[in-house]
Amino acid sequence: MRVVDLFAGCGGLSKGFTNAGFNVVSAFDAWSPAVECYKNNFNHPIFQEDLSNVDLVIPMIERYNPDIIIGGPPCQDFSHAGKRSEGDRANLTKAYAAIISRIRPKWFLMENVDRAYKSKAYAKAREIYKNAGYGLTERILNASYCGTPQNRKRFFCIGFIGALDGFLNNVIDELLSDKAMTIREYIGNEFGIEFYYRHPRNYNRRGIFSIDEPAPTIRGVNRPVPKGYPGHPNDPISLNQELRSLTTFERARIQTFPKDYKWVGSKTELEQMIGNAVPVKLAEFVANAIKLYCTATNQEVSQTGWETLKIG
Ligand SMILES: C[S@@+](CC[C@H](N)C(=O)[O-])C[C@H]1O[C@@H](n2cnc3c(N)ncnc32)[C@H](O)[C@@H]1O
Repeated sequence: MRVVDLFAGCGGLSKGFTNAGFNVVSAFDAWSPAVECYKNNFNHPIFQEDLSNVDLVIPMIERYNPDIIIGGPPCQDFSHAGKRSEGDRANLTKAYAAIISRIRPKWFLMENVDRAYKSKAYAKAREIYKNAGYGLTERILNASYCGTPQNRKRFFCIGFIGALDGFLNNVIDELLSDKAMTIREYIGNEFGIEFYYRHPRNYNRRGIFSIDEPAPTIRGVNRPVPKGYPGHPNDPISLNQELRSLTTFERARIQTFPKDYKWVGSKTELEQMIGNAVPVKLAEFVANAIKLYCTATNQEVSQTGWETLKIG
C-alpha cells in the first residue's frame, strides 16, 4: 500500500507503517528541524511545505498516488497542556480533511490528542469525511495496550471509502492487549535504573515512576529534578540523590523508536519532535489492524501490495 505522511514530524507514524510492511512514498512537514531529522531516517522524499496551503500541496501529494494518507495535524490547541480555545492549529485539522476529501484516497488515518474527538474542528472535519463517502472508525487508544510502555491516550480516525462506520473495531479489539505494558517488559532494564523522575504539571500529581509500570505520557519538554519537589503520597520511593529524569534518548526509546534511529537536531528540538511523535509501536499496531482487515476482507491493495506479509 502506498502511503503519504502529512505533518510527518520526525517520523513516528512513518516508521510504524514501514515496520508493518506499508510502502511510505513521501512525507510533508513545515518545520525544518523535523524535516532534517526525518531525512536522515528514510529514503523517500520529505517536502518542507505549509499544509494550510491546500491548493498548493494537493497536486504535490497526488503525484505520489497514495492508497492511504496518514497524518497527525498539530494538537496544542486541543491538548491538556495547551490553551483550551481552538485556534489556527485546530484549523489544520480542517485543512487535513479538505486535502483528504479532494484527493479521496481509498484510506486515510488521522491521529490527535484524545480531547480532539470532542472539538468543533473535528466535528467539521468529520462532516467533510462523511460527505466524501468515508466509513469511519473512531477510537481513543491507550498506547500501553498497543505494544508501547506508555500511558498515552490518542484519538485515531481511520477512514475507508464506502465502508460502514466502525468497520475496524472488531480487528482492533482482537489485537488489543489485555494488560498495560511496563518499561521492563518492553526493554528490560536498558536504562540501568529502577525509578526515575518525570516532572508533573502540578504537585497534586506524583513525579516518581518505576520501570515496572507504563511511563506517563512523553511530552515535548523534559525537566530535571527541581530543588523544590515536595514528594507525593503515591511516589513508589522517596526522592533521593540518585534519582534522575530520563535522557532525550531514553524518552525516544519509550516512544518505541529503535535504538539506531538517527537523532539530528538540538536537544530542545529533539525533545519537541519526540514528544510530538506517535509511538512507533502504536503506529505499527494501527497499521497492522488495517492490514489484517484488508487480508480478512480480501481488499485489493494497489499494485505494490505489502512489502511483507507477516502480521504482528
Ligand atoms: C503532532 S506532530 C506530528 C508527529 C508525527 N505524526 C510523528 O509521528 O512523528 C505535528 C507536526 O505538524 C507540523 N506542522 C505544524 N504546522 C504545520 C503546517 N502548517 N504545515 C505543515 N506541517 C505543520 C509540525 O512541525 C509537527 O511536526
